[in-house]
Amino acid sequence: MKKKLLVFTGSPRRDSNSAILAVEAARAARKAGASVEVINLSRLRVNPCRACDRCRDRGPGQCVQKDDMKKIYPRLQQAEAIILAHPVYWFTINAQTKLFIDRWYAFGADEYRCFKDKKVGLILTYADQDVFSSGGVNALRAYQDIFSYLGAEISGMVYATSAGPGQVKKNKTALKEAYNLGRELVS
Ligand SMILES: Cc1cc2nc3c(=O)[nH]c(=O)nc-3n(C[C@H](O)[C@H](O)[C@H](O)COP(=O)(O)O)c2cc1C
Repeated sequence: MKKKLLVFTGSPRRDSNSAILAVEAARAARKAGASVEVINLSRLRVNPCRACDRCRDRGPGQCVQKDDMKKIYPRLQQAEAIILAHPVYWFTINAQTKLFIDRWYAFGADEYRCFKDKKVGLILTYADQDVFSSGGVNALRAYQDIFSYLGAEISGMVYATSAGPGQVKKNKTALKEAYNLGRELVS
């Protein structure tokens, strides 16, 4: 059976640096024989969680909202590995990605079982000099708590400075790290 990797990108812009690294990771995973899907969250309609708790009665992934999460929930349940790739906005996880993560709340009726033992890869880009001054570290720290709570393993993270669109293409180290991350996640 082919391993399933879902790659979620969270940047709204063309020639997105974080998406370029994500696509590199996807390329490696496909080459390693995995089934890979790249999903651009910024093109989907993902509403904020309403905290209505109806999912607690309806069952895992059974959110009452009729938006694009309907088609994402079953795919998330099936994937063995996921990548979250996004820019740092205001020193942490960007809004497009955070809205998506909030909606995982709908799996809570099942105690988040579908995340247990999933492998997770993280890719962040930011304009500032390093992962500390950019605030990337705040996003990574949140992910440590999020995935520890969910029982999933963070297998690797790639982060890089890149300001203008497409700038990360010149960063051979980051491209290589993203490639290795994709391969590692499906090994
Ligand atoms: C709304 C907004 C907020 C941002 N906040 C930060 C920040 O806090 N720290 C930082 O280093 N860069 C910040 N940036 C810059 C982006 O993180 C940077 O350009 C990144 O490479 C964009 O990735 P992308 O090309 O995948 O969209 C911000 C950009 C925008 C549009």
